[in-house]
Amino acid sequence: MIRQNLVEALSRQVNAELYSAYLYLAMSAWADRQGLKGFANWLHVQYQEETAHGMHLYEFILDRGAAPEFHPIDKPETEWDSPLAVFEHVARHEAHVTDLINGLATLAMKENDHSMYMAVQWYVNEQVEEEANADQIVQKLKLIGDNGGLLLTLDAEMAARVFVDPFAGAAAN
Ligand SMILES: [Fe+2]
Ligand SMILES: [Fe+2]
Repeated sequence: MIRQNLVEALSRQVNAELYSAYLYLAMSAWADRQGLKGFANWLHVQYQEETAHGMHLYEFILDRGAAPEFHPIDKPETEWDSPLAVFEHVARHEAHVTDLINGLATLAMKENDHSMYMAVQWYVNEQVEEEANADQIVQKLKLIGDNGGLLLTLDAEMAARVFVDPFAGAAAN
């Protein structure tokens, strides 16, 4: 059995992951409306990843014999000034999520819940990649500046991203 304060913390994280999904979906819609279909694709894949993150934690709560809590999902922002503004927001958001994940790991450790601690470690590693990806795209967009041709080249690169279920093959259940 898992302690109730841990169920609450995990449920809050499910909510945060689903909010992340919703935020990336809003960013994808924005990019689509700018004619940046590659950026829209990249952000849509990110939406799918965040949904998978949330669902994996949700399954973990159920696997531990507890009832997940449901909270309202916040309304995300829907307008940005530029692709750079979008990805600066992504970078800020992922740094915030890293703080949340670190908080969960600290809590699991404090409560001596090793299985939760192990489950959260996957997210600790994932956040390194998430922050690196966001920072790399921010850097590229800064180099591109006002060059529309280079922006379209990056857009074509972003079009190639395909969703791969991060938990496929993992002994999740
Ligand atoms: Fe996530
Ligand atoms: Fe993320």
